[in-house]
Amino acid sequence: MEVPICSDFLKKFKRLRLFEPSLGILGFFLVTVCVLCCFFYLDYSAVATRFRISTESEEFVLLKFNGSVEDRRVEFLSEKGGGCDVFDGDWVWDETYPLYQSKDCRFLDEGFRCDENGRPHLFYTKWRWQPKDCNLPRFNAKVMLEKLRNKRLVFVGDSIGRNQWESLLCMLSSAVPNKDSIFEVNGSPITKHKGFLVFKFRDYNCTVEYYWAPFLVLQSRPPAKSLPKIKTTLKLDQMDWSSSQWRDADVLVFNTGHWWNYEKTIRGGCYFQEGAEVKMVMKVDNAYRKSLDTVIDWIHREVNTSKTQVFFRTYSPVHFRGGDWRTGGSCHLETLPELGSSLVPPQTWAQYSIFLDVLSSLSNTSKLETLDILNVTIMSSRRKDGHSSLYYLGPKVGPAPLHSQDCSHWCLPGVPNAWNELLYTLFLKRVTVHMWNSSTFLAPS
Ligand SMILES: *[C@@H]1O[C@H](CO)[C@@H](O)[C@H](O)[C@H]1NC(C)=O
Ligand SMILES: *[C@@H]1O[C@H](CO)[C@@H](O)[C@H](O)[C@H]1NC(C)=O
Ligand SMILES: *[C@@H]1O[C@H](CO)[C@@H](O)[C@H](O)[C@H]1NC(C)=O
Ligand SMILES: *[C@@H]1O[C@H](CO)[C@@H](O)[C@H](O)[C@H]1NC(C)=O
Ligand SMILES: *[C@@H]1O[C@H](CO)[C@@H](O)[C@H](O)[C@H]1NC(C)=O
Ligand SMILES: *[C@@H]1O[C@H](CO)[C@@H](O)[C@H](O)[C@H]1NC(C)=O
Repeated sequence: MEVPICSDFLKKFKRLRLFEPSLGILGFFLVTVCVLCCFFYLDYSAVATRFRISTESEEFVLLKFNGSVEDRRVEFLSEKGGGCDVFDGDWVWDETYPLYQSKDCRFLDEGFRCDENGRPHLFYTKWRWQPKDCNLPRFNAKVMLEKLRNKRLVFVGDSIGRNQWESLLCMLSSAVPNKDSIFEVNGSPITKHKGFLVFKFRDYNCTVEYYWAPFLVLQSRPPAKSLPKIKTTLKLDQMDWSSSQWRDADVLVFNTGHWWNYEKTIRGGCYFQEGAEVKMVMKVDNAYRKSLDTVIDWIHREVNTSKTQVFFRTYSPVHFRGGDWRTGGSCHLETLPELGSSLVPPQTWAQYSIFLDVLSSLSNTSKLETLDILNVTIMSSRRKDGHSSLYYLGPKVGPAPLHSQDCSHWCLPGVPNAWNELLYTLFLKRVTVHMWNSSTFLAPS
């Protein structure tokens, strides 16, 4: 099974223009390692499966030759699947992936089309997320569109939220034969512009929308007579101005994190404000924490959660090696995920730890009862191979210089597809739980 993939990779590799002999040698070394890994991993997973069975009870030993353990996992959407943590699992190779090709989808920013921008292999599109204790339903765009009929699904957040939103547009549109029936309601093109975009699926009367709000809370002019160095302030106790536009959506997907750092706030003259007061010495982490409290409190107070399903997607990890985005950090040599578990401890991402802290401080309140956490940080941290790296500039421009890589955004199709499959799963779960409850209610006793 693995042989055609690897030879395909080799063919592609030969076509690569090699700028320097040393790069060529390094490249050849990597290919060799990669081919070995291909064989090793497949073999290893077989060994691991056998090992796992043999350490289980007698019963499992008897089942040993009756197919794989995977087939015995409970379906998450079945009545017994409720307790499964779908975010605890592994990336597994799946020949039937990806769910779409970027060239077939016109809803993608050029920056995410790594394949078309010259990325030399497509391994990163072939991994499926497999929870440890249950199976996910396979994504079915028709089912999702049917459930979204007459509804609004809204993403609010930064450009990685946009990364996920565009991926969902592609996943859903794959089931719509007439692509002209999908359009932006104001005729705006998919470009990197800030603001919002509303795509309508005409045959389903549903919209899939994106709002740019990287902090989620309000960024606006400072109070009158502030110091000249204060250009803007983040009102930590108020939601973004656009919140009135999406408060009543049927599905809300929030994300934030990548803008909560010194560079994107204080250094650019953006300070933090509570009430009428600008807090000149407040640290970014503290401000971030307060903003999360505001967002969760707002959801609790303002959103009708019997109608609206609210998701909060956790921090999307970055993978710069040997520097950060300004200092030549790179990820372009990564071709495989870390399988098993991540080598990167979760504390690496302050934004993730702070979010978990806020959640645990609220765990005694009713505020979290109706919030679905898309807990993607750990699973995505193993996907160092999934970023745009050098391939975000468009086919005419070609790969970016080695010192300016994008190891934050993800190639599409890729890791955000898996987030959307989890979104799909939790979305369907809510619908099916409602169904069971109402059918129980209707059943004669
Ligand atoms: C193995 O599967 C077959 C049919 O699928 C079944 O009849 C048999 O009982 C199974 N064996 C065990 C040990 O469960
Ligand atoms: C289309 O969906 C909107 C909600 O997004 C709803 O208000 C409207 O009534 C729907 N139109 C039809 C014809 O069902
Ligand atoms: C909340 O939504 C439910 C379901 O759509 C609706 O029946 C209810 O009237 C709404 N509640 C409020 C306060 O708007
Ligand atoms: C939550 O409640 C439990 C008991 O109900 C209590 O022991 C614990 O201290 C509370 N935790 C917080 C963070 O309030
Ligand atoms: C998210 O997943 C990690 C790792 O599986 C776990 O430690 C953490 O408690 C989870 N958090 C939430 C809010 O589910
Ligand atoms: C469905 O019923 C169960 C108990 O029977 C209850 O705990 C749960 O909250 C209900 N869910 C909904 C969405 O009504």
